[in-house]
Amino acid sequence: MAQFPTTRLRRMRQHDWSRRMMRENNLTPDDLVWTLVVTDKAHSEPVASMPGVTRLTIADAAKAAVEARALGIPAIAIFPHVDPSLKNAHGSQADNPDGLVAQAIKAMKDAAPEVGIICDVALDPFTDHGHDGLIENGVILNDATVERLCSQALTQARAGCDVIAPSDMMDGRVGAIRAALDAEGFQHVMILSYAAKYASAFYGPYRDAIGSAAALQGDKKTYQMDPANTDEALREVELDIAEGADMVMVKPGLPYLDIVARVKTAFALPTFVFQVSGEYAMIEAAAANGWIDGERAMLESLLAFKRAGADGVLTYFAPKAAKILNG
Ligand code: PBG
Repeated sequence: MAQFPTTRLRRMRQHDWSRRMMRENNLTPDDLVWTLVVTDKAHSEPVASMPGVTRLTIADAAKAAVEARALGIPAIAIFPHVDPSLKNAHGSQADNPDGLVAQAIKAMKDAAPEVGIICDVALDPFTDHGHDGLIENGVILNDATVERLCSQALTQARAGCDVIAPSDMMDGRVGAIRAALDAEGFQHVMILSYAAKYASAFYGPYRDAIGSAAALQGDKKTYQMDPANTDEALREVELDIAEGADMVMVKPGLPYLDIVARVKTAFALPTFVFQVSGEYAMIEAAAANGWIDGERAMLESLLAFKRAGADGVLTYFAPKAAKILNG
């Protein structure tokens, strides 16, 4: 490269048109997956720690699916807020064929069949201890949990879910779920594995949103990853691919862009990233205080995921961002 003064990198930054012409990454609604909280309550209600996010009744979730279609958002990921009285140690609502998630899937698929439905597989929205798995003497059981997760995944597939997304971080669950789906004729149902999921402080508002914050005993460090590690993330992803994952995810998002970049470079498969509740809350809170331009910060953070190599972003901002991107 020629040196200054022959080379002046500011030259190309002079105009809007020249900046647009050399732009390497673009964000479109196709990049967004709308993370949406559904509730079994009679009325939709705002989530206090996530301004702008509402827990939706099944009827309102169906309307959201129609809105997603209109906005060009390809898929919605559902997260349930169930009544505390329905929670127990083994999370029996997780595989209830008439439960909140199954009903939501059906209502949303009826309303807008063109929109993909992604369901979280993990027991935490349904357990009274708030953990993703079964517990015995304070230990989260792996293999017994995987059996429950297979049952949960089958319930979701039978209800019409398009993508099964295990977020529990048990070992071997992707392979077990793939086998369970195939055995029942669900070869076409995709698996998006939360492959590199970290034990993160940024999930705080989510646990408020789904009502597991009060319930959670201890932390999730024996199954979710240590934020200090990167090699381990590659091993997690490699195992999940070998077990049949169609897509993998890194979570949280912005603090883990290095992991997104490494995973995409190493495996070259559809790679997603979850801009989690705490990331959303930080941007919204700072914007509400007038400390940052919330809209610009939102779009900049979403673009950063694309730059790092993500094929798509799960985000609570999806409808807001799509409206802006659609002009
Ligand atoms: C639970 C699950 C969590 C999130 C998605 N699925 C929380 C956790 O692991 O404690 C977090 C989502 C967010 O923070 O937005 N299996």
